[in-house]
Amino acid sequence: MGIDLILDDLVEHGFAVVPQFLASTEVNILAAAMQERRGLFHPAGVGRKAGHTVVEQIRGDDICWIETSDPLAAKALNQLDELKQSLNAALYLGLDELECHFAAYPMGSFYARHLDQHRGEDSRVVTIVLYLNPQWGKQDGGELRLYLDDTHHLDILPEGGKLVVFLSNRFEHEVLTAKRERLSLTGWFRRRA
Ligand code: OGA
Ligand code: MN
Repeated sequence: MGIDLILDDLVEHGFAVVPQFLASTEVNILAAAMQERRGLFHPAGVGRKAGHTVVEQIRGDDICWIETSDPLAAKALNQLDELKQSLNAALYLGLDELECHFAAYPMGSFYARHLDQHRGEDSRVVTIVLYLNPQWGKQDGGELRLYLDDTHHLDILPEGGKLVVFLSNRFEHEVLTAKRERLSLTGWFRRRA
């Protein structure tokens, strides 16, 4: 899927799913880069600043923030930067930096239903999730459940190379229980404060 189709879907639906955004060789490189950082992962928290706490009943993933200059992730970050520039050119979103982290959900973990924007703060404009799980099947669970409206949701398998893009303030979503370790690069295109 080209960037034009992502833009069309974002305008029309507010989200886009790109099954093969990243080639499988690149998925393997990123997954290996992630493993090299294993010692730097820490349990993800919820809330900001003083309200920040680790609550496994809400989210059970471990994360590691990524510098956008990180050479180990260069190819994927370049592709995401191109996407950002296209979003700005076509939709005038005024996106500035990409804030992103690797996330590892251990077997049995999940992330309860939530919205990516923190209360009273709207600098996260577009959410991106890029999955790094070769050969992920339905039996592995871990779907991203995107709530489209009061009665509809979409379940998306976190298959390697797949990119999901959505407007951060528009969709509540959750990560269903992963039956094996589930890896991703997750980020937010932010607008300058
Ligand atoms: C998040 C999130 C979704 C996913 O990190 O905020 O919702 O599919 N991730 O990993
Ligand atoms: Mn989220």
